[in-house]
Amino acid sequence: MTAAPHPAPSLNLDSFPAGFRALVIGASGGIGQAFVQALQDHPRCGEVIALHRQSTPRLDLDDETSLADAAQALRGTGAFHLILHAAGVLHGAGFMPEKKLGDLNYAQLEATFRINTFGPALVLRHFCPLLDPGRSVLAVLSAKVGSIGDNRLGGWYSYRASKAALNMLLKTAAIEMQRSRAQAVLVSLHPGTMHTRLSEPFRGAQIGRSAADAAADLLGVLNRLTPGDSGGFFAYSGERLPW
Ligand SMILES: NC(=O)c1ccc[n+]([C@@H]2O[C@H](COP(=O)([O-])OP(=O)(O)OC[C@H]3O[C@@H](n4cnc5c(N)ncnc54)[C@H](OP(=O)(O)O)[C@@H]3O)[C@@H](O)[C@H]2O)c1
Repeated sequence: MTAAPHPAPSLNLDSFPAGFRALVIGASGGIGQAFVQALQDHPRCGEVIALHRQSTPRLDLDDETSLADAAQALRGTGAFHLILHAAGVLHGAGFMPEKKLGDLNYAQLEATFRINTFGPALVLRHFCPLLDPGRSVLAVLSAKVGSIGDNRLGGWYSYRASKAALNMLLKTAAIEMQRSRAQAVLVSLHPGTMHTRLSEPFRGAQIGRSAADAAADLLGVLNRLTPGDSGGFFAYSGERLPW
């Protein structure tokens, strides 16, 4: 009996080469797991490597050495056509997003920036060199609330600012990468509200959609992006967002 062929995938990833290699950082989280699953299920994707705090190699955004070591461990395995950075924090041990200036404190600002901004900056440093010299995409999960132009409600100081700064780092890296890897596409993404651990305290289960749906939408957007889009900030709908 011959094996049944893969069903025609509804998710089109044809802009990536057949058998493409993908890396998901923050693969233990809601959308991180959904990215890994969608890529593992996709016939065009040849290999998905999933990194997180408990993986081998381990990657902890709070530990600079672990970032360098993880990149070094993967260096000899071949280039990546797709790198997704899906980690981030909104609330943590002992803190929730600030509602007013009076809530601001160094511990929360620093903890949020270490995970949402400084860690991803070092991901850019250590993992951009692992991108394939041909078509390649590196995307970081940002958030629309990190848009300065779109900030109408206020609040959530640390989270908003950490994502705005992440967007600047991404844009700056995209400019540098254009000089050495002209085919590379580096973008910030907004996934929309999803039902994950991160959104749980904010009625994520009621107002969010599944991470699987968000992952499929974002992969579809990435499939359509070209080097001319590099350095941009895109929503799951494909809409370009204001900085
Ligand atoms: N959920 C939403 O509605 C929403 C909306 C807009 C933007 N986003 C963004 O989407 C991204 C993913 O969020 P999510 O909803 O999937 O959240 P999630 O389920 O809470 O996952 C967060 C991920 O970040 C990882 N992480 C946290 N601290 C880390 C550290 N020190 N080192 C390495 N990894 C660390 C977690 O690892 P552990 O499993 O080890 O804790 C987990 O893999 C975030 O950047 C978030 O800002 C989410």
